[in-house]
Amino acid sequence: MPGWLKNAVFYEIYPQSFYDTNGDGIGDFNGIIEKLDYIRELGCNALWINPCFDSPFKDAGYDVRDYKKVAPRYGTNDDLYRLFEEAHKKGIHILLDLVPGHTSEEHPWFRESQKAENNEYTNRYVWTDHPFAPIKGYPYIGGESERGGVYLLNFFKCQPALNYGFLNCEEKWQLPPDHPDCIATREAMKDVMRFWLDHGCDGFRVDMAASLVKNDDEAKSGTCALWRNIREMLDEEYPEAAMVSEWGDPVKALNSAGFHMDFYLNRRGNGYNTLMRDYETGEDNSFFKKDGKGDITRFLNEYLPDYAATKEHGYYCMLTCNHDTLRPKYNLDDRELKLAYAFLFTMPGVPYLYYGDEIGMRYQELPTKEGGYHRTGSRTPMQWNAEKNAGFSDGSAEDLYLPVDLSAGAPDVAAQEMDANSLLNTVKALLRLRQEEEDLQADAGFEVVYAESGKLPFVYRRGNLLLALNPSLETVTAAADVGNRTVRFSIGKGNAEDGMITMEPQSFLVLK
Ligand code: NOJ
Repeated sequence: MPGWLKNAVFYEIYPQSFYDTNGDGIGDFNGIIEKLDYIRELGCNALWINPCFDSPFKDAGYDVRDYKKVAPRYGTNDDLYRLFEEAHKKGIHILLDLVPGHTSEEHPWFRESQKAENNEYTNRYVWTDHPFAPIKGYPYIGGESERGGVYLLNFFKCQPALNYGFLNCEEKWQLPPDHPDCIATREAMKDVMRFWLDHGCDGFRVDMAASLVKNDDEAKSGTCALWRNIREMLDEEYPEAAMVSEWGDPVKALNSAGFHMDFYLNRRGNGYNTLMRDYETGEDNSFFKKDGKGDITRFLNEYLPDYAATKEHGYYCMLTCNHDTLRPKYNLDDRELKLAYAFLFTMPGVPYLYYGDEIGMRYQELPTKEGGYHRTGSRTPMQWNAEKNAGFSDGSAEDLYLPVDLSAGAPDVAAQEMDANSLLNTVKALLRLRQEEEDLQADAGFEVVYAESGKLPFVYRRGNLLLALNPSLETVTAAADVGNRTVRFSIGKGNAEDGMITMEPQSFLVLK
């Protein structure tokens, strides 16, 4: 396990929208370099950068045309190497986004694979042996190649699936995962990883990590075996490199596949969803809403068994949001966000903060851009200050990758830096607290002290610290063995005496 994950706090950067230094309206590597001090002062010491590779951008870069070359719109490979170097000087690690499940339909491997005559890439993608035969259970495309077959898709039409084999082969065109051509795909992905690790990157966020071996079983044993093989390579050659999976099933991802971290992804009705995003069914019963209708046991019932099963193997990752999800400001106001972040940043594992969530950037209703659809509204330019284009770019407004939120009350970094009570300053204080208290970091224990369905507060222990949360507008109390403690940190007011914790409306308390 890379030791640096112990106190890591990640900042996710959507490179298109972070900071533009050459006035073309789109963010760039030099922009990230210029903002490294901001990221450090915020309290983050690691970055995940969304795909920044050469691409036709039909899925915002998740359609890679060349794994080893950056997209010119962000700069050059040398600029990215310099970003690694400058970040390391400031104690910041960087994960790139690895997209192993599919390439762009414009990738040279795919162009070769489409040819009628056999070549090295014939089996690099999944093809049937007849131009009219459908693929059962998977999306596919026919009629676009010289080759007499249809090919399997991993996501959008532009993203043909790479071939890592089928665990249970049911057709003669399906190859087993240990077929030399499927192993060649895996080895090609290792080659991509080595390329970036050798140039200074610190690991990868892995796109659709569960999707590689097809016709996999319930336990995902084919896909897990493949990742374990990759983990062996890392342990041997790059023991400090870190991998986080977009899987959302920590028992499989951490225990079986060997990932160091797994995202707690938002899925309707799952534990994470009940915390901040429980609005898809009509009524919003998210735990952090001030009307206090949430129920922390809905989260705990899912989280506790998975946490117990995985904590010796790797880290659960709590997210404020990501580029695929509506920003948390969509349904939570700043006060609610402060309490939600207080929780996310004091949980075990490794937290991820999506750029702009530290100031409560809003979700924008926008037409789709580069395959974003409803996700586009969470990908708008970072709001740095009240100047032109919110300080994101010197370019003209029409040239911006996406419009900046210029509507009344739009938050920005400069204004929030001046306001001691701002969301930004609360995030900084919370992250400082996490850095100062080892008991709040990845490995320290987590125990529930008081959590009752329909009741508040929620009281939990991290190592020797006792923490209490009351998201509601009522003053609430709970019996808890508080011992002899002092207040280490608070949002709002709470106090603890005579075996009782009393939490005033919308408060968070850390007792030491
Ligand atoms: C998950 C990524 O987060 C998303 O943005 C992308 O569209 C799909 N995978 C396909 O790569």
